[in-house]
Amino acid sequence: MKQYSSEQLMKGIHAYIGSLAYARDPQGLYDPIEYVLDMGGKRLRPVLMLLAYNLYKEEVERIYPQAAAIETYHNFTLLHDDLMDKADVRRGRPTVHKKWNENTAILSGDAMLILSYRFMMDHCPAELLPQVMEVFGQTALEICEGQQWDMEFEQREEVTVDEYIEMIRLKTSVLLAGSLRIGALLGGASDEDAEWLYRFGVKMGLAFQLQDDYLDVYGDPATFGKKIGGDILCNKKTYLLITALQRAGQEDRHELQRWLSATDVRPEEKIAAVTALYNKVGVADCCRERIDAYYEEGLQCLDRVSVEETLKQPLKDYVCQLMDRQL
Ligand code: IPE
Ligand code: IPE
Ligand code: MG
Ligand code: MG
Ligand code: MG
Repeated sequence: MKQYSSEQLMKGIHAYIGSLAYARDPQGLYDPIEYVLDMGGKRLRPVLMLLAYNLYKEEVERIYPQAAAIETYHNFTLLHDDLMDKADVRRGRPTVHKKWNENTAILSGDAMLILSYRFMMDHCPAELLPQVMEVFGQTALEICEGQQWDMEFEQREEVTVDEYIEMIRLKTSVLLAGSLRIGALLGGASDEDAEWLYRFGVKMGLAFQLQDDYLDVYGDPATFGKKIGGDILCNKKTYLLITALQRAGQEDRHELQRWLSATDVRPEEKIAAVTALYNKVGVADCCRERIDAYYEEGLQCLDRVSVEETLKQPLKDYVCQLMDRQL
């Protein structure tokens, strides 16, 4: 069976997404869709879907519509997420609500959500359609739940690590896991294999979101493509913040709490002060340890997938590379 590397799959799906044409009126609806889908990104979710499929079958092009669907869905969540998070920059470019306006981000986002359902159904083998749509629907709803928790936590003083982990499982992990499960289903995997791939995706998703939170503070804006410190300004209850509040001495904790409730502060000043407290408490190392632990747990799930070990290598190489990402 022909095996593809993640780079090959990434190129393939990137070209396929680029070939999708939205030459339809009104341009005000479709231009932002093209803008966001053509500006790239890692294409992580479709690549995971294709890698999972390629554990069982080699004609990866057959599921390009479903892979494009998951990427379109992901990009839809970004349009709304950037509005909710007041984020002006993504992938080094202005976000849709900045380049156009807020209503455009809402409505073009809605259209992308609908398009993603269409792509998912396109050329899906009839016998698998109910199962695939069930996974997709369940995943999409859970992401809304995760995003709602994420917003509610901004207003809450006390958020536990367990609550945070459940929130990121919902907002981020299930989409990686669902991509893997759909790829496995389309490839004809057993239910058991599909379940272990899903669990692998959940763990990798937790590690992935922890790394995202880390990069939001410590990343290089040139490579990360987003503004540094956005989570700090929104009072996002990230693992970094929760750990800092738990581990800081009384005085530092009070200072951190003062910054959380402060109004009318200069953004740069708040980011610098909170980052300094993170450094003092040493939260980066705690975050790194958690990332490594989830990565290891994920690999143990992958071990349980009943295909020959050599077939799993492209997936292993890909997630390994992902763990040290700077973008
Ligand atoms: C951003 O996802 C949203 C998160 C779940 C952290 P990615 O980091 O995969 O974004 P792109 O698609 O590569 O830009
Ligand atoms: C992303 O969380 C989750 C979803 C988009 C569903 P973030 O808000 O951390 O993602 P970024 O940092 O804006 O990419
Ligand atoms: Mg968000
Ligand atoms: Mg965001
Ligand atoms: Mg983030």
